[in-house]
Amino acid sequence: MRVAVFSAKSYDIEYLGAAAAGRHELEFLEPRLSAQTAGLASGFPAVSLFVNDQADAAALEQLAAVGVRHLALRSAGYNHVDLEAAERLGIGVARVPAYSPHAVAEHTVALMLDLNRRIHRAYTRVRDLNFSLEGLLGFDLNGKTVGVVGTGAIGAVVVRILRGFGCRILAHDVVENEQCIALGAQYASLQRLLTESDIVTLHCPLTPDTEHLIRAETLAIAKPGMMLINTSRGGLVDTGAVIEALMDGVIGYLGLDVYEEEADLFFTDLSDRVVRDDVIVRLLALPNVLVTGHQAFFTREALEKIAEVTVANLTAFEAGRSSGNEVGSERIRG
Ligand code: NAI
Repeated sequence: MRVAVFSAKSYDIEYLGAAAAGRHELEFLEPRLSAQTAGLASGFPAVSLFVNDQADAAALEQLAAVGVRHLALRSAGYNHVDLEAAERLGIGVARVPAYSPHAVAEHTVALMLDLNRRIHRAYTRVRDLNFSLEGLLGFDLNGKTVGVVGTGAIGAVVVRILRGFGCRILAHDVVENEQCIALGAQYASLQRLLTESDIVTLHCPLTPDTEHLIRAETLAIAKPGMMLINTSRGGLVDTGAVIEALMDGVIGYLGLDVYEEEADLFFTDLSDRVVRDDVIVRLLALPNVLVTGHQAFFTREALEKIAEVTVANLTAFEAGRSSGNEVGSERIRG
């Protein structure tokens, strides 16, 4: 089957190209999907999308008009797809539910360790032969309370790793995960989690219920000086409120792999341009903020699994059967 792959990078060409060889004919397209670029998929029954492709109603209408019937997401998250519009237009959507929870969980803990021990500052300092320890003081993770919001595939691995460090875990989710309870995590309300946690890490999907979960009101009850980590989706956090909290010392450390306005920034080398986004520029200027550009998923194992499942989803669509990875609009309504 002919498939148009939007937002294609060198690693998509390598991994997806290898997995699809002999099975599907892939056309790798550099642009992101939007209503303006959807016409590039003319003549392709299926397209493959990544996290910052914009599959809103306008783009989906254009895709439907040129004959697209299936979206194969190369991601677990599907908040960038208007599922109701897709259903109305008869476009099926499949995702890669859990390609490597370890990749994201390990990156999450890397952000915690780096921020705590200020490795990013120490790295540049030592390169300048400055061996002073002033300003590098950290804390023991052992015995600290970590609040894990969302204890699905990724959150559960974060819990397991942090239990290894001797952390106390408070968890919050709409469903409790027995695995996390067995590891010693205690489920709590979001309010209690925010009040008691030294570190708060977000691992729930972005839905209308979770949008701006971290905002001025929720930060008002947070433990002063806490560390906030977001490797899930930028929209979980009201970035303006977080900047205020950083200024007031309510947030002592901030680690982000995702950002509300990342679509126009991430996955691109902008080093020779003037970035007009004042918010990200402000964040990057702070010494207790560490931002990575949506790279938590980026391991060899994850790319292999994403490619393998994406190709299986495409093959199932072509054969007219279910892959088991379809996303229905009831998931966001419910
Ligand atoms: P998952 O579906 O296994 O787990 C999500 C958990 O969040 C579930 O247990 C669910 O019950 C819970 N949840 C849903 N609504 C909630 C609410 N209102 N409050 C608290 N918990 C709620 O998903 P998985 O694989 O663990 O991924 C989590 C998120 O991580 C994805 O939605 C995606 O946005 C993000 N992600 C980020 C990546 C990156 O590279 N930075 C890569 C992969 C995923």
